[in-house]
Amino acid sequence: MSQLRAAITSLGLHVPERVVTNADLAKYVDTNDEWIRTRTGICERHVVEPGTPTSVIAAKAAQDCLERRGIAPSEVDLIIVATVTPDMFFPATACLVQEKIGATKAWGFDISGACSGFVYAFTMGAQFILTGAHKKVLVIGADVMTSILDYQDRTTCVLFGDAAGAVLLEPATDGSGMLDFAHEVDGTGAPFLYMPGGGSLHPPTHETVDQKLHSLRQDGAHVFKYAVRKFAESAAGLLARNGFTGDDLDIFLPHQANIRIINAAQERMGIPDSKVVKNIDRYGNTTAATIPLAMGTALDEGRLKAGNLAMMAAVGAGFTVGTALVRWTGFEWS
Ligand code: UT7
Repeated sequence: MSQLRAAITSLGLHVPERVVTNADLAKYVDTNDEWIRTRTGICERHVVEPGTPTSVIAAKAAQDCLERRGIAPSEVDLIIVATVTPDMFFPATACLVQEKIGATKAWGFDISGACSGFVYAFTMGAQFILTGAHKKVLVIGADVMTSILDYQDRTTCVLFGDAAGAVLLEPATDGSGMLDFAHEVDGTGAPFLYMPGGGSLHPPTHETVDQKLHSLRQDGAHVFKYAVRKFAESAAGLLARNGFTGDDLDIFLPHQANIRIINAAQERMGIPDSKVVKNIDRYGNTTAATIPLAMGTALDEGRLKAGNLAMMAAVGAGFTVGTALVRWTGFEWS
């Protein structure tokens, strides 16, 4: 019997039905399909019906996750929601999800880690398994990015979509589960990707609304350069620390912000296409949901199997960097 680890024993996803193509966006902002495809790799993204909050899609992903595992919501000990688009500042989205799914015995909280949020929430949830405090932890990455986009800003509104993904963490002693993680934040990155309004710095006023301070802002080129460097640096460092090389890795589950960032990181790490999950063409950047969505794509394609060495990696607002190495636990997926 191997040491105790936190294993991913189920996955659930919720992708809203409504699809917005690049051509749809070109109808109301000065952009075109060719620019978006070649600069980002995005062809279309899914968006919620207006007025749908994050807790609703998060709860759907959570229900899907629990149903696939065949366990009752009342068995869940803890719910962690990674999001930058909570329904409201408080209560935490985790509380709203707890009520929606009927997880009567669970406690919970939210994590604001932006695009690295899911990896942070996953490693945080794993700690409660490793201490023995909990047996079933639900980790959710969910964002309704369309609620914070400025649809007059072509440099940001074309990049994002809405989605939610959830994993269940349980104790395992079969060698599978989280092996290690490496996280980093660099607060000098704050002015390059942020939403200035609504918090204690710029509480909402007519002026903050007029100045569109409640929408996401980004210096894309700066974030791009940081992301390319950090993806490869962090992933390579974590592999080396555990005595692995790119050859040992079976599947790379990168955050999906830009296909060019993924390709550049992949090239620096020297790993072939067959080991990298890319689905940004269909979903765009769904912030905290990209990595569970990538797991879903890998499972759909039969590329994620029991015993595989998988790596999640993300870079996002903060700046935040999150990387985790997992020995995949087999579970049924259809
Ligand atoms: O997940 C969170 C982390 N975020 C990221 O990782 C995002 C990182 N950054 C990026 O993905 C890329 O920087 C972007 C996709 C945001 C932008 O791509 P870029 O190659 O860095 O373009 P750019 O910002 O340098 O802009 C190039 C040109 C500009 O025109 P001029 O100034 O050269 O005339 C932009 O105005 O492209 C123009 N442009 C557009 N044109 C058509 C910017 N957005 C658009 C657009 N449609 N949507």
